[in-house]
Amino acid sequence: MVIIIHKVNQVASTQLNAPVNTQIGQFANMCRMNPLTHMQWIGDAATGYLRLLDQTQLPETEVYIDCKDVQTVWDAIKRLSVRGAPAIGISAAYGLVIAAQKNTFIESADHLASSRPTAVNLFWAIDRMKKVSPCTPEVLLAEAIKIHEEDRAMCRAIGEHAVGLIEALPADKRGVLTHCNAGALATGGIGTATAPMYVAHEKGLNFKVYADETRPLLQGARLTTFELQEAGIDVTLICDNMAAQVMREGKIGMVITGADRITANGDAANKIGTYGVAILAKHHGIPFYVAAPSSTFDFKLTNGDQIPIEQRASEEITEGFGKRTAPLNAQTYSPAFDATPAELIAGLITEKGIISPVTTENIKKVLG
Ligand code: MRU
Repeated sequence: MVIIIHKVNQVASTQLNAPVNTQIGQFANMCRMNPLTHMQWIGDAATGYLRLLDQTQLPETEVYIDCKDVQTVWDAIKRLSVRGAPAIGISAAYGLVIAAQKNTFIESADHLASSRPTAVNLFWAIDRMKKVSPCTPEVLLAEAIKIHEEDRAMCRAIGEHAVGLIEALPADKRGVLTHCNAGALATGGIGTATAPMYVAHEKGLNFKVYADETRPLLQGARLTTFELQEAGIDVTLICDNMAAQVMREGKIGMVITGADRITANGDAANKIGTYGVAILAKHHGIPFYVAAPSSTFDFKLTNGDQIPIEQRASEEITEGFGKRTAPLNAQTYSPAFDATPAELIAGLITEKGIISPVTTENIKKVLG
């Protein structure tokens, strides 16, 4: 494993596909330059490897992990070095190219599928890679790149479909609240929940984003606030428990979050706390939208109660980021996701259009 370290904001941008030592500093311009750089295949199919930006180190340090074996990819997914539903799927797809290099495709597919249980994109990508024939590194790499590029295009389409929602907000209510990170870092493109924000920004619209910090791992603070700020978007960080007050003050016109799995009836699992935000939005009469590509839909499950919810280690609550904040041996319970019922969701924003109202029939109609 090769690690490249750089203090963010100290070094200007570098070229894509540049040698290792000149890649330093590329994240600062990632969104403007090329969103592929936080997950990148380096070299050819037979001997190449996956380079991942270690998201656990952001926003302070830009560290890259070079994954030359499947276990390193598995670890990166498990410890959230790469995270966000589409990004997990894309990384697993590249991981299976490495597996084919070592003639361990079948067992590696099962192993990668055991890394995280909630985001269906992981299983979707692995299933898609399993269908590739012949199962050679060359053909598998072409498929992994296709999955990556398709995701990038889906993000853009989500943004184009939903930018009108931001545009339609009254000028004094152009506040958009989001939770966790469903941004460029979580996908192959400009994110899902953030895609309408990037497109609105490109169009020169005036709007504000409020980012929940997202306890316990602070993806909203460390990643969303960082990435939107880097892109020049007006973003304000709030603690999770401030959302109700900020809504009450009339600062929020709409909520957009991402999703890890959406069931046939439109229930949507996303980062823990999303369900609470949806309830708050309903109370305040604020539309709550979920943005996700079709790879996030799981038609095998009828409703959100069937979605497997990942449980995380208690240390993430009791001593997150190396600082003990609870007594030794404190009992904890740490579900990493929750499912928001379809009835609280004003619309599902997909690459094929906005599904609203959210019903099984409408989902079928739009996604086919
Ligand atoms: O635990 P994480 O950081 O992987 O959780 C990520 C989220 O919940 C995102 O909102 C979701 O994956 C959508 S990413 C476009």
